[in-house]
Amino acid sequence: MRIEKVSDHIGAEIHDVSIRDIRVPEVRDRVLHALHENELLIFKGLDISPAEQVELAQVIGEPVPFVMSQYRHPEHPEIMISSNEIVNGKPYGVPRVGNFWHQDSSYTDNPTTYTLLHGINIPEWSGDTLFSSAGNVYDRLSTHWKDKIAGRDAVHTVRKRFKIRPEHAGYSITELMKKADELHPPVTHPLVKIDPYTKLPYLYGAKDYLDYVIGFDANENHEFLNLVEELVTDPAHGYRHKWTQGDLLLWKTETAYHAVTDVEDNQSRTVHRVAVK
Ligand SMILES: [Fe+2]
Repeated sequence: MRIEKVSDHIGAEIHDVSIRDIRVPEVRDRVLHALHENELLIFKGLDISPAEQVELAQVIGEPVPFVMSQYRHPEHPEIMISSNEIVNGKPYGVPRVGNFWHQDSSYTDNPTTYTLLHGINIPEWSGDTLFSSAGNVYDRLSTHWKDKIAGRDAVHTVRKRFKIRPEHAGYSITELMKKADELHPPVTHPLVKIDPYTKLPYLYGAKDYLDYVIGFDANENHEFLNLVEELVTDPAHGYRHKWTQGDLLLWKTETAYHAVTDVEDNQSRTVHRVAVK
């Protein structure tokens, strides 16, 4: 097994290891160790079936079916289909997923540990996934801000990114916000967390899911969220993944900030996601 870093602060390509190899506990443990060190692992061009993706998820933990049943893979409820394709006149999956910087499911009480994303139908260009390390973002905060946020909690909500569904036609914005809160009540998380593997601090939250820091006034909140946005999106500290067919990405849910870039018009893009506890 060969591990090759793809940027200074996040991501490594992993070579010479097959999905079959990972069933062996010692190999699995080495892969997980590499993941904990690099936040994101990239397996290039894997020709694996949806069943094999689920099996891999089972080897590293417990796959958790996606909360919205209409977007689950018909044969594998553990897989959420992220897609802009229309099949037989119906959306094949959820379009425009994750096109903003976030840590997966931070608007829920108990986000999963890992995310596994497999590229099924990849456009020739566009639809890249950008990554940034939450530990590195914390490190780049000034001492002033580190002191200011120490011990604070923040409220996360899906409100700003709630997806409007056909049954919401006719709702006002206020009614939509209320519906979002009913379905996904706001939750509180520590703003700085400690990575259980590296024992290092990382920042938890970015402006789309993080609503406000408890104890900050509106100006402080605004200033802080803008600063975080600046740090998270700085390409000099991140990694841009340009997908090729079959790529499989595995990342730590809480410490890998990511965002997908826009997909060009008339380009199809489908990826299969499995969340692993
Ligand atoms: Fe995501």
